[in-house]
Amino acid sequence: MKIVHTLLISIFISTAVFGQGQKPQDFLSSDFHKERREILRNKMPGNSVAVFFSNPIRNRANDVNFKYHQDPNFYYLTGHRQPHGLLMIFSEEQNINGKVMNEIIFVRGRNALAELYDGGRISTAEAVNDLKLEVAFETPDFESFPIDFSKFYQVLFYDFENDVRETQEEGDLYDLISQFKKKVNYPDDSNLDITPEPQENNLNTTLLDELLRPMRGIKTKEELDLLRKAVKISALGQAEVMRAMKPGMSELEVQGMHEFIYKKYKAEYEGYPSIVGAGHNGCVLHYIDNYKPEIEDGELILMDLGAEYHGYTADVTRTIPVNGKFTKEQKAIYDLVYEAQEAGMSVAKAGVPFSAVFDTTLAVINKGLLELGIVKSLNEEDLIDPATGRHRYYPHGCCHHIGLDVHDLGEYGTLEENMVITIEPGIYIPEGSPCDEKWWDIPVRIEDDYLIKKDGIELLSDDAPRKSSEIEELMQEESAFGQFNLPDIEEK
Ligand code: GLY
Ligand code: MN
Ligand code: MN
Repeated sequence: MKIVHTLLISIFISTAVFGQGQKPQDFLSSDFHKERREILRNKMPGNSVAVFFSNPIRNRANDVNFKYHQDPNFYYLTGHRQPHGLLMIFSEEQNINGKVMNEIIFVRGRNALAELYDGGRISTAEAVNDLKLEVAFETPDFESFPIDFSKFYQVLFYDFENDVRETQEEGDLYDLISQFKKKVNYPDDSNLDITPEPQENNLNTTLLDELLRPMRGIKTKEELDLLRKAVKISALGQAEVMRAMKPGMSELEVQGMHEFIYKKYKAEYEGYPSIVGAGHNGCVLHYIDNYKPEIEDGELILMDLGAEYHGYTADVTRTIPVNGKFTKEQKAIYDLVYEAQEAGMSVAKAGVPFSAVFDTTLAVINKGLLELGIVKSLNEEDLIDPATGRHRYYPHGCCHHIGLDVHDLGEYGTLEENMVITIEPGIYIPEGSPCDEKWWDIPVRIEDDYLIKKDGIELLSDDAPRKSSEIEELMQEESAFGQFNLPDIEEK
C-alpha cells in the first residue's frame, strides 16, 4: 500500500506562493516547448503516440539524493523540471472520455509533507496554464486512464534502463513505468532497441531518437541565447582562473574557482563533472577526481569545464602553465594543438562534413608530431597504441554538439547552420611514451564552442584567450581571488 498523506493534502505549498522575483525569468518560453511538441507531432507516423518519462531521481547515499536533473528530451518538450512525470503526444487528436486532446501530461500528485521538505510541486492547473500543455492529470490517475495502446499503429518511447526506484509514493516514476509496461504488453525479455515488425507488436524504441536528433541538433534563437550565456560564463571562468593560478594550489581549489564563477553568474549546474588535471593527471581524458593537493611549479594544468545555464551547457577547455610561463616543450605542443584547432576552425562551415574538421586537425597534429620527432613515422605501428587501438597521442574525436547535453543529440553527417559544436583537438603524452622523456607528462587540450554559420563559424568562447602568448600575458594580471585569504587549518 502506498502512503498517501490524505490528512495533509489540503495544506499545499504551492509554487504560486513563491513570487515572480524568487525565480529567474529567462527560461525557455512555454511557446518554445509547445512548438517543439508540434514539430515532433508532425514528424510522427500516422496513428502513433510518443510517450516520454521524466528522469529518475538518483540516490547519493542513504536518504540523500543528488540534485535532480530533468531528462533533456522531457525538458525540451515541456519545460517541466520536476521528477515523476509522463508526457504523451498523439499524432492525431484523441477523444478520451469525451475530452479531445493531442497531448497530455501527468504531473506528480500533490503531497504536503513531501512539499514541506522539497518545495512546491506543480499543479495540473499550472501545467495547463504555465507549461501550456493541453491536458494535465496527476500521476496516480495514469493507472486508470482509459487509453488503449493496442489501437495505435506505433507506440514510440525510449527503452527503460531499469534504474528507477520504487519510492512508495503513489504515482511515482516506478508506478508509471510499471503501469505503462502493462498497458502496452511490454515484452518481459525485451532487449533494448525494439524496432517492431508490424505483425509482432506496435512498440518502437528507436524512432523517437531519429525524430528528435535533427531537431535538438539545430538550435533556435531562444536556445542560442542560453547557450551563449553558458559559454560566456565558462570562458570568463577560464580567464579569471588564468589570472589567479599559482603553484601550490590544489586541483579542487582550481575547480572551486571556476564553479564559484558559474554560481556568481547564476548558472545552476556544471554540465558535466569538472575535469581539472595537473601534470600527468591531464593525460586522463575524463579525470574528475581533482585530488592533487599541490599543483607543482612547472606543470601544465588542463581544465575542461562547462557551466550549465537553464539547462544548456558549455564545454570549454584551457591548458595553462601553472607558473605563468610555458616551457619550450610545453609551448611546442601547445602551439601545435592551437594550430590544429585553427585549421579545424578554418574548414568548419555549413555544408562541410563533421569528419572534415577532425581530419584537418589530425593532419596538422600528425605532421607536427613527426617534425618534433615525437613519432618516428606516420605508419600505423608508430601512431596507433595497440593497447587501446587509438591514436597514441590524439586518442579522441574533435567535435560534438552541445546543448541540453554536453554530448548533445544531433546529426553527425554534415555541419548545418545553427548547430553549436565544439572543436577540441588535444595531444597527451603520458610518462613512458615511446619518445624523448622531455615530452612526458605534457597534456594539452584546447576546446572551444562554435555556432555554425553559412559561410563559417562564430567562436562563442572568445572571452578566454587561446594563444600561448595571450595566456601568458593574462596570467600576469591580478585576480580578485588573490585577495581571498582564509585561516590556515592545517596542524603545524
Ligand atoms: N568535457 C567532455 C568533452 O570535452 O567532450
Ligand atoms: Mn567536448
Ligand atoms: Mn570538454
